[in-house]
Amino acid sequence: SKAHLTLDPAFVVGPINRNLFGSFVEHLGRCVYDGLYEPGHPSADEEGFRTDVIELVKELGVSTVRYPGGNFVSGFRWEDSVGPREQRPRRLDLAWHSTETNEIGLHEFASWLSKINSELMLAVNLGTRGTLEALDLLEYANIPGGSALSEQRIANGRTDPFGIKIWCLGNEMDGPWQLGHRSAEDYGKLASQTAKALRQLDPSIELVVCGSSSAHMPTFGSWEREVLSHTYDDVDYISCHAYYQERDGDLGSFLASAVDMDHFIETVVATADHVKAVRNSKKTINISFDEWNVWYISRYQDVDKIEGLDNWPVAPRLLEDVYSVADAVVFGNLMISLLKHADRVTSASLAQLINVIAPIMTEPGGPAWRQSTFFPFALTSQLARGNALEVKLDAPTYATEAYGEVSQLDAVATHDAETGRTAVFLVNRNQSEPTEVTIDARTLGAVRVLDAQSLSDNDPYAKNTAAEQERVGTKSIDTLTGDDGSIVVTLPPVSWTALSLG
Ligand code: AHR
Repeated sequence: SKAHLTLDPAFVVGPINRNLFGSFVEHLGRCVYDGLYEPGHPSADEEGFRTDVIELVKELGVSTVRYPGGNFVSGFRWEDSVGPREQRPRRLDLAWHSTETNEIGLHEFASWLSKINSELMLAVNLGTRGTLEALDLLEYANIPGGSALSEQRIANGRTDPFGIKIWCLGNEMDGPWQLGHRSAEDYGKLASQTAKALRQLDPSIELVVCGSSSAHMPTFGSWEREVLSHTYDDVDYISCHAYYQERDGDLGSFLASAVDMDHFIETVVATADHVKAVRNSKKTINISFDEWNVWYISRYQDVDKIEGLDNWPVAPRLLEDVYSVADAVVFGNLMISLLKHADRVTSASLAQLINVIAPIMTEPGGPAWRQSTFFPFALTSQLARGNALEVKLDAPTYATEAYGEVSQLDAVATHDAETGRTAVFLVNRNQSEPTEVTIDARTLGAVRVLDAQSLSDNDPYAKNTAAEQERVGTKSIDTLTGDDGSIVVTLPPVSWTALSLG
């Protein structure tokens, strides 16, 4: 089939905030222990961090990292994770039915982040704890010295404050599974009180209030309205979380997951703007899409459950989804959705980073490798610079069970006026046929295709595994430049493609 795409640097959606390329590290499964930290591993540095993992995380191009949870944070006592390691308590983590040794805490994680050149986005526990403990953590982390907790940080080996800028006010407080789950009213009041207190201590921080755990929660919409009606003046972002999976062999609907993400973002924006109107406010609340990915949640519910009063393993294998090419195509499309809304989605975190629903996998004592989803993240993070551009797309449609009639293609472009570089990201959802796309880029003047990388496979379910670590990856594809300056690219069936123009 054929499609036509027009791009123009004047069709600006908004500037791309680097925080869109954030990720998420939770004390869950083997993300931290036997993931980024494995003291006995041949590649471990003097602090026990795997340098092979550090190299892959750097290649992935991650900006901020949300930490330490997730559901974990709602039972976490931050004081456990600082101070002399041998005195740190072992605690039961109720969220994942595991033992937390606290070997890695705030100081160690900040040190790891400095090695990958990323910034910390810290979540506080508003499930089983409250305003005072959040204030204590902020004092410990951001106050230069002269107070009990800042001096304790200094005594623990860190003279300079951590200077943590973005703080999350709890995690998924709308979810009945969350320790300390609250109603929108109760959470809204607690979040507002905590936000005001934190800002009294450090006015420079940015705050994220919890939105819905998914657009399919029964309270979705009313949760956002109620929570923002309490916190509108106190916070900067409202969070969105979304996970997608193929259900019942319906690949067509799964490939269109970004249609749902687009709708989710637009609905939360509308709700936030409704509260803005009611309050007659001049302030705009943006979105922190701080958990997004493909995740086979139904598999987790059936297989990974740990139970028993005497069974609290350390770093068990949990949520270790192995991703296919089709998963990575959907994943790349979710990144397109984030970019298409770059005016309002100004922060995002891929959940998660290592081993746990992650682009990077490791084996203890063994290799670290890239999952299929690594490639669209790394290339988008590398190429999407400057402004996000809306594109005009004329493409055939197809019928889906989940979302009705949807476009066979999705695309977004980015343009960096400083370097003159443009990037186009495209997804072909057609399962059987390639799509020939003619790109009208005449408004860019004389540009060449510098690179065209595509992720596809004869088998859309092909994966990288421990046994076959480089089975899938991106490949260069050919493009043609017409006499009129148009660019023609043929997108393979079920594919994600990045073009770099300059
Ligand atoms: O990312 C895995 C889990 O998904 C997180 O702990 C939680 O916030 C969400 O439900």
